[in-house]
Amino acid sequence: MVVEKNVPLQPWNTFGIAARAQQLVRIRSVSDLLAVVNDSALAPLPKFVLGGGSNIVLTGDVKPVVLKIEIKGLRLVEETARACIVEAGAGEAWHDCVLWTLAHGFPGLENLALIPGTAGASPVQNIGAYGVELQDRFESLDAVDLWTGQSFTLDAAQCGFGYRDSVFKHAPATPPDDGEGLPRSMGLAGRAVITHVRFRLPKPWKPVLGYLDLERRRLEAGIEQPDARQICDWVCEIRRSKLPDPAVVGNAGSFFKNPTVTPDQCADIIAREPRIVHYPMPDGSIKLAAGWLIDACGWKGKTIGKAGVYERQALVLVNRGQGAESVTGGEVMTLAKAIQTSVYERFGIRLEPEPVVV
Ligand code: EPU
Repeated sequence: MVVEKNVPLQPWNTFGIAARAQQLVRIRSVSDLLAVVNDSALAPLPKFVLGGGSNIVLTGDVKPVVLKIEIKGLRLVEETARACIVEAGAGEAWHDCVLWTLAHGFPGLENLALIPGTAGASPVQNIGAYGVELQDRFESLDAVDLWTGQSFTLDAAQCGFGYRDSVFKHAPATPPDDGEGLPRSMGLAGRAVITHVRFRLPKPWKPVLGYLDLERRRLEAGIEQPDARQICDWVCEIRRSKLPDPAVVGNAGSFFKNPTVTPDQCADIIAREPRIVHYPMPDGSIKLAAGWLIDACGWKGKTIGKAGVYERQALVLVNRGQGAESVTGGEVMTLAKAIQTSVYERFGIRLEPEPVVV
């Protein structure tokens, strides 16, 4: 096992923030993880799991030991009359997983095309786009408990998926006290390292076209029954037209979650702001478009220091600097707080950041 010291993290976070890891270990297999767990110097130290770095804001050098997950591999593990189960190593790039499944004739992930990040990070925030969330295509995952070195498997219910949420985003409540070592509390952040993820791709395949932008593309193209590759292409085109490419302009995707309100609260806001974009949810709550709220407060295209609000989608904060002159995590959070304050003052709604602030 090689412990790298003082490692620049700028190439490994999509915001392009300049920060360093005091110690970093590359994890290419489960045995690499066990070597960390069994190392007397590393074992007691806090850990930070780094996937594609596409959902983090680094506010300084990272003191916990960074575990950079590079476990590879894509394979079909099972095919039944009702589904194909595909397994990905946690370090596979997410979009490569989508393309691999389509190329091998296992459709189902196409609405999630072009999302930055890794397969291992996909359950952490339950990635979602264009009418599909990871939980709709999730079978199970394997992880290693850093406190005990034990491997374990979780199904969807055990992952506690919510909107951009799972057990992997919450801190563990208590150390294991039962001597058996299996995680007992709900939170697994910094404790469990996902090594493999399995996706359930239902048969027969059915397109998911309900999202307005996708339906518009379908009508424009005049295609009655698009196949999964066609939908993948449309999703890529829509994303490229709305969202900045992190390779060109640093960003972490949507910076805030879309907030939910009660129907009463929504009626109250509509009375004041008739044009507000809102969607009724199956549980009776109403989801509001955070991008619209931020846009309505005049933030689109604005900049504070080197942190900016993207011109084409107000929900995305971007790095207006580059290289050594890149934005700092502090600047990003200052802008985020200013946005939260103005949205709260105008609409009485508290926006919750989506990326993990490190
Ligand atoms: N809108 C504005 N102004 C803006 C931005 C948006 O008026 O500056 C309006 C749009 O016109 C639209 C509505 O707000 O009516 C929603 O916008 P959009 O369709 O772009 O989707 P979103 O709600 O902003 C969510 C996800 C995205 C995902 C898209 C497509 C969250 C936090 N974001 O964005 O996910 O790609 O839907 O499904 O749920 C991500 O999580 O990083 C992400 C990019």
